[in-house]
Amino acid sequence: MPPSPRHRTCASAPVASDAVTHAALANSSFLAACRGEAQARTPVWFMRQAGRSLPEYRAIRAQHGFQDMITSPELTAEVTLQPVRRHGVDAAVFFSDIITPVQAIVAGVSVETGKGPVIAQPFRTAADVDRLRPLDAEHDIPYVIDAVQRCCAELDPLGIPLVGFAGAPFTLATYLVEGGKSKEFIHTKTMMYADPHAWHALLDRLADIAIATLRAQINAGASAVQLFDSWAGILSENEYRQHVLPASTRIFEELRALGVPMVHFGVGTGELLGAMADAGPDVMGVDWRVSLSAARQRVPAGIGLQGNLDPVIALAPWPVVEAATLATLAAGRATGPGYVFNLGHGVLPETDPTVLTRIVELVHAAGTS
Ligand code: CP3
Repeated sequence: MPPSPRHRTCASAPVASDAVTHAALANSSFLAACRGEAQARTPVWFMRQAGRSLPEYRAIRAQHGFQDMITSPELTAEVTLQPVRRHGVDAAVFFSDIITPVQAIVAGVSVETGKGPVIAQPFRTAADVDRLRPLDAEHDIPYVIDAVQRCCAELDPLGIPLVGFAGAPFTLATYLVEGGKSKEFIHTKTMMYADPHAWHALLDRLADIAIATLRAQINAGASAVQLFDSWAGILSENEYRQHVLPASTRIFEELRALGVPMVHFGVGTGELLGAMADAGPDVMGVDWRVSLSAARQRVPAGIGLQGNLDPVIALAPWPVVEAATLATLAAGRATGPGYVFNLGHGVLPETDPTVLTRIVELVHAAGTS
């Protein structure tokens, strides 16, 4: 039996502690903000908070390949928890990669340092799409389920929610079609225009993979999820609405019944915020190129906002960081009750982690003053 959809705790948690962990998670400022409830203290977490900015991550990474870390539940749980211990953030983000579920079902997929996902045989035709069979999470990514359960066993009693995630169909498609990271996305857009049938089939299969991945993470204990459509910002609103939105909408629709807050995020998506909000999330992630007040105009009331300090600012001298953090916080709080402080994209590896801790302290202190 899967755990009940609302306020689930991880399957491995002893029954006697369930009431305690329910109560602790129910008080989570992050989950409450996602539900649109006013918070005395603004919740804060950072995309890519688990990773190369942390010396304790680098120490483990020096001993293990990235893939070993993703497929070892013990290591995954450890690096997921590192930023929670160090920074005191209000949410943990599961350590994995958007390509992980695809890697489990397609041969020749790897993640290379400095490049990200690399696909040996790119997907360009209808026949290629057939190489993407459905994901059976328990069989294909058992280490993800195990690691989520381990994370929740530690996080639930602390009242810290675990944010699960998946790559959105478009962003995953860019990696599969291009064969890796891209600047111009020529093959992706060519497929979209030249073979819309194969394109939509590809996005549908990737949507199914995202649904299976997120469902497995939620059933294992994740109490929120974020759908990363990192590269959607290269599309016009028309292209997005016609060629991407239906597949992403289906993900939010199918997961809605599981009852956890869902965040939707992309980079350079100022012009797409309204369209991405139409996909059905509870919270829209905003990058630093668009002000939170402008984002508020573009995203319907009732959908929260998350963001949007420029990650590069975290490399500046502290007085600059402090002023920018307070300005972002003020702008965010002015958008309404459902606001979550975050960066406008992931933490850069060059970031001094003590600065991130100070940002968390500043956001928390400012909220209670
Ligand atoms: O803290 C967290 O955010 C959790 C972990 C996480 C990783 N990847 C770990 C990782 C998350 C949420 C992701 C998602 C991800 N992966 C996205 C969407 C988020 C975003 O940044 O827009 C994308 C586009 C990817 C693809 C990917 N994987 C890239 C671009 C890279 C970086 C390549 C590089 O070396 O610069 C990866 C690899 C990766 N994923 C690393 C980490 C910590 C670096 C691996 C290493 O230690 O060598």
